[in-house]
Amino acid sequence: MATAVCPGSFDPVTNGHLDIFARAARSFSRVIVAVGFNPTKANRHLFTLEERLEQLRQATREFANVEVDSFSGLIIDYCAEVGARSIVKGLRSAKDFDYELPMAHMNYELTQVDTVFLATSPRWSFLSSSLVKEVASLGGDISEFVPPFIADQLYSRTGQGLEGEES
Ligand code: PNS
Repeated sequence: MATAVCPGSFDPVTNGHLDIFARAARSFSRVIVAVGFNPTKANRHLFTLEERLEQLRQATREFANVEVDSFSGLIIDYCAEVGARSIVKGLRSAKDFDYELPMAHMNYELTQVDTVFLATSPRWSFLSSSLVKEVASLGGDISEFVPPFIADQLYSRTGQGLEGEES
């Protein structure tokens, strides 16, 4: 059984992430979406770890071979723990590639874990959790970019309320 780990902060999960999970789930028999700790973003998370895990569980419910978990420490140690030989990452642009490649090299050098890059669907090549949060916080329409229940949570967390609702 080939297991792959899809790591990230997922604050919150977007349709771009979901597209990558779905495609990873077609190539691997078991996919673990793992929420990791990124110190550079730690103080800026809109949703708690528990909230992000619950969002991911709900958003991936339809995928039979996708699980949701969290990890702290090195991703390679987590991969060893769950028996994964591959990490799957989505690439939106050359900028993502420049950021991801040294980590992929380091992870391979340390434990021979492979990083499999999937080119993001062009439809989502501009999409990021940060942009979605910014648009939501200013009252813009994010319905195309995240599942409806995440949009509701974003509007209420950023103080925008739901569309048409008085606040
Ligand atoms: O979505 P993000 O914020 O880019 O996710 C980053 C995360 C948490 C997946 C990444 O920072 C990570 O894997 N951290 C674990 C620590 C680690 O293994 N660092 C060395 C990488 S070579």
